[in-house]
Amino acid sequence: MSSLLGQRILLGISAGIAAYKSAHLARLLKKSGAEVRVVMTDGAQAFITPLTLQALTGEAVRTSLLDPDAEAGMGHIELARWADTLLIAPATADLMARLAHGHADDLLTTLNLASEARRVMAPAMNQAMWRHPATQRNAEQLAADGWQLLGPDAGDQACGDVGPGRMLEPEEIVAALTSAPGERGPATGLTITLTAGPTREPLDPVRYLTNQSSGKMGYALAASAARLGARVRLISGPVSLATPPGVERIDVETAEQMHAAALRLAVDSDAFIGCAAVADYRAAAPAAHKLKKRDDADGLTLELVKNPDIIAAVAALPATERPLVVGFAAETQELERYAVDKLTRKGLDMIVANDVSLAGQGFGADHNAALLLWRRADSTTPGCHQTATLTKAELADTILRHLLERLIARQASE
Ligand code: C5P
Repeated sequence: MSSLLGQRILLGISAGIAAYKSAHLARLLKKSGAEVRVVMTDGAQAFITPLTLQALTGEAVRTSLLDPDAEAGMGHIELARWADTLLIAPATADLMARLAHGHADDLLTTLNLASEARRVMAPAMNQAMWRHPATQRNAEQLAADGWQLLGPDAGDQACGDVGPGRMLEPEEIVAALTSAPGERGPATGLTITLTAGPTREPLDPVRYLTNQSSGKMGYALAASAARLGARVRLISGPVSLATPPGVERIDVETAEQMHAAALRLAVDSDAFIGCAAVADYRAAAPAAHKLKKRDDADGLTLELVKNPDIIAAVAALPATERPLVVGFAAETQELERYAVDKLTRKGLDMIVANDVSLAGQGFGADHNAALLLWRRADSTTPGCHQTATLTKAELADTILRHLLERLIARQASE
């Protein structure tokens, strides 16, 4: 944990309803000992007044790039150099787009270009806007540019929708600023890509095939990898979990979308962890209109086709592009035999096997015990480690430690 004492934080506020929470955030940052200066976009001032932020921070709030009086005090370049951290909360879809494209059409975007500070943002917007491919592309670009994205959280939204897009609570933002992501750790310099959660395969515009996966294990792994210092990209099916601090999240719905995202991101990753519960089959031809109940037949036959095996496709990449590949096996019997078979058949480097027939483990649960198996260069029998029953966060740390050992062994043999 690092302290915010004496840290110079430039808090940027853009035009989202979550801007009302930024007043509390400014107050918490001050209470944590940080020096705080605030920059508001034009739109932000429709939600909260500069006077509120001025009263809370004790500093004049900057709202305009071309303000002769403010520039005579601390010019915008000076302000950009002053900051240790540029924190934008809330960050709207429009601001993310402008930042991703390097615009400098207002004070906040100009400060972004002129500053070499650590960059952190807490996106907040309607769930459909967040899921839109354009926003997802911008989020990816911003993470590649060095921004740490906090959230968004999923849940009820001010507009009445439910889904991802809520700004993290101010307390969570302050906690993330003081916690490890961005600091150096044993995984610093590594890029880890993960899949998590279920996939959702449409049958018609209102119905789909899915499964019980909560995404908890994959999200715990992503959080653990970020805490260890890795750059983390989490390809997530539909789940109601907050994005862990410092993790770049790519939202997908179907197995085919997950497959495309996985192959695109795996090629420049050091490790790939397939934690998603991918639907084995999808509808051969999803109906364009809602399927009607028929009175002339008691049954309905759906034609399903096989989905691509995502992890096997990643494991089959050419050696120069192939990351270390870690899979999961959820079994109800003969755990070790089925896991070893999967390890070999899918061409994986390591597999995390767990017995989902045991009560309180696996899907949806908070605890898990696992058998870790990995391929060895010098032996036909895999390496093996049985963990105790752990919380998913503890198990994630254990898996990551083993993964780092495998990566080091692989690098040593290259
Ligand atoms: O074959 P099975 O579904 O049991 O394999 C589980 C492992 O394979 C998990 O790591 C899962 O994420 C991955 N998988 C995949 N694509 C599929 C099916 C499974 O990546 N279509």
